[in-house]
Amino acid sequence: MTDATATVSTSLNAGSPGLAGRVAIVTGGASGIGEAIVGAFTAQGAQVAILDLAVEAAEGKVAAGQAAAAMACDVSDPDSITSAVAAVVARFGRIDILVNSAGLARLGAAEEVELSDWDLTLTVNLRGAFLISQQVGRQMITQGGGRIISLASQAATVALEGHLAYCASKSGLLGMTRVLALEWGRHGITANTISPTVVLTALGREFWNNPKGEALKEQIPTGRFALPEEIAAAAVFLAGDGAGMINGADLVVDGGYTIR
Ligand SMILES: NC(=O)c1ccc[n+]([C@@H]2O[C@H](COP(=O)([O-])OP(=O)(O)OC[C@H]3O[C@@H](n4cnc5c(N)ncnc54)[C@H](O)[C@@H]3O)[C@@H](O)[C@H]2O)c1
Repeated sequence: MTDATATVSTSLNAGSPGLAGRVAIVTGGASGIGEAIVGAFTAQGAQVAILDLAVEAAEGKVAAGQAAAAMACDVSDPDSITSAVAAVVARFGRIDILVNSAGLARLGAAEEVELSDWDLTLTVNLRGAFLISQQVGRQMITQGGGRIISLASQAATVALEGHLAYCASKSGLLGMTRVLALEWGRHGITANTISPTVVLTALGREFWNNPKGEALKEQIPTGRFALPEEIAAAAVFLAGDGAGMINGADLVVDGGYTIR
């Protein structure tokens, strides 16, 4: 057994206490899936910094004891990312986990998609994840390890009506993640994506509570949408010691929607 393998084996056999002592960044952690991941990581003992445009909502999570820090950050702005990542390192000394959850969708028929909507979607969902992964990755390389987890979607592998730019951005995230996994595995860094079906966030509940939602559910083998807590559980798993050999994977959490 190599030294690295023996260390992992010892840590797993000792039943290491979740994410105790880890420092995590969650972009988009003020709302929806990111918010659930922040809560789950904090419950597992991690110190979590929320990086979000919605800084007041993020500060509310800190005040409620659900996160350790809130930083204003626009992932479409490289300077904003640089400042926020530097602030996290200055405060906590390291970054063990990065979750890219900040994202948006602009829907419309392919022939009517505005260039501004295409650009915004690719800028936030894909370029934003690239920019912060690169900056945090440099820190993780210096440290000798880390976990990068990006929220993709079932839209990364199947076509969804009206989701032209969104599908393109999420497919891109899968390709980017595979290259990060390939290049940075040797530094002890893993990079993976999570691809949910519709998730019943506050917005999701509102948007899909109608006949269209019922019809979509019928196409999901498990017959229901996902809960934010189920996506958070997948993120906790990928961030934990037991997932150290999962690298470059897309963990599909879709009730089987994409298997046919
Ligand atoms: N909700 C779903 O059904 C679903 C399904 C599959 C994948 N996803 C993906 O999961 C992720 C989270 O989705 P959600 O439903 O929780 O979304 P949400 O709208 O509830 O939360 C997104 C968060 O990102 C923040 N944000 C948006 N633009 C930002 C920017 N430029 N810089 C920093 N923060 C920014 C928002 O302020 C918000 O707090 C997204 O990447 C989304 O594409 C969602």
